[in-house]
Amino acid sequence: MKDHILKVGVLGCGPIAQFAHFESCQKGKNVELHSICDRADDLLQRMAQIWHPHKTFSDFDKMLEDPKLDAVIIAVSDTFHVPLALKAVEAGKHVLVEKPLSHSIEECLQLIEAAEKHQLVVQVGHMKRFDEGISYAHDFIQEHLGRLFALKAWYCDNTQRYTATDNLQPLPIKSKFAVKPDFNEKADLERYYMMAHGSHLLDTAQYLAGKIGSVHARLRQIDNAWCWFVHVDFENGTLGHLDLTIKIRGDWHEGFNVYGEGGSVFGKTYNPWYYKSSEVQCYREDQQVSYSPLGADGFSYRRQLEAFAEVIMDNKPMRGTKLQEGLDIVKGMLAIKQSIREGNAVYLDNLKISAL
Ligand SMILES: NC(=O)c1ccc[n+]([C@@H]2O[C@H](COP(=O)([O-])OP(=O)(O)OC[C@H]3O[C@@H](n4cnc5c(N)ncnc54)[C@H](O)[C@@H]3O)[C@@H](O)[C@H]2O)c1
Repeated sequence: MKDHILKVGVLGCGPIAQFAHFESCQKGKNVELHSICDRADDLLQRMAQIWHPHKTFSDFDKMLEDPKLDAVIIAVSDTFHVPLALKAVEAGKHVLVEKPLSHSIEECLQLIEAAEKHQLVVQVGHMKRFDEGISYAHDFIQEHLGRLFALKAWYCDNTQRYTATDNLQPLPIKSKFAVKPDFNEKADLERYYMMAHGSHLLDTAQYLAGKIGSVHARLRQIDNAWCWFVHVDFENGTLGHLDLTIKIRGDWHEGFNVYGEGGSVFGKTYNPWYYKSSEVQCYREDQQVSYSPLGADGFSYRRQLEAFAEVIMDNKPMRGTKLQEGLDIVKGMLAIKQSIREGNAVYLDNLKISAL
């Protein structure tokens, strides 16, 4: 790539592009904001005035025809992720697709096949892996913990979340012409919360402790609060417990404990819009010493994009969520749903449902 800079196009000018992706393209050391695309023309023009891409498009197909474009960030509603990522791959572009990858196994398999066929990089946007604290914890676990006994992880979004984020962020610019799915994504909150938040929790769990074999889930819902407690068996024998609670009455509460032969790791993660890395305490039994990185660079979305560019331009191994792992997360969400319906443990390779 010319000057070793990845030319990135952002599809979608909605809130996540405004809060994370445009700025990541602007600040990233090895990327540039080459083009942006949105069918809502008013939003497209407003974003072009702010972020100064080289080109703007209201038609994604036209954006993909541009031979100078190297890669696309797909920042649209969940339902559109795979169909539009497939278009990009067919056009020969690398893809960073927002999380969750999809609501269905079939769609994930289609994209895996297309990415392999065209030999392109496709990464799923679980940006928590690029939180310096979480990535330090991951490497420490690999290097020093040996066999793991157990992982506990929790993700509890809170009632006061928007009080905090409205103070931190500018209000998103919206358009009545924005393209939305033909159903209300928030009509089924069990599905919506699992896809929006549960997918992050499952990604963190499998990033730190490996592939999930089976789950046994329970769900309690009172008023507007949803609480999933999930017993997990990882394929490597690690015992797991996941707590996904949405609208906890308290502060944002997210983190993890990991116990291994060689030590233990404790992590506290912050609301992502504070751009503050997780605080982690990583203990080595052989030294009887704990390590805690400072994590001064808390812009995990920019770090995610820079790492994606390094996979493409420098052949670095993918640290982000691979397509296969995105599929495993979809299977995990399906297994949790099935387990709640049936009241028993469900193996991820023995699902009766294939779409959320
Ligand atoms: N990683 C994170 O922390 C995080 C946080 C928030 C949202 N997200 C994810 O980001 C994605 C987008 O969220 P959002 O709230 O910005 O979505 P949104 O639906 O509000 O905005 C998407 C924009 O894309 C445009 N669009 C959709 N289809 C298009 C098409 N075919 N051609 C041109 N434009 C098109 C729409 O007009 C809209 O303006 C979702 O999948 C969501 O789950 C991730």
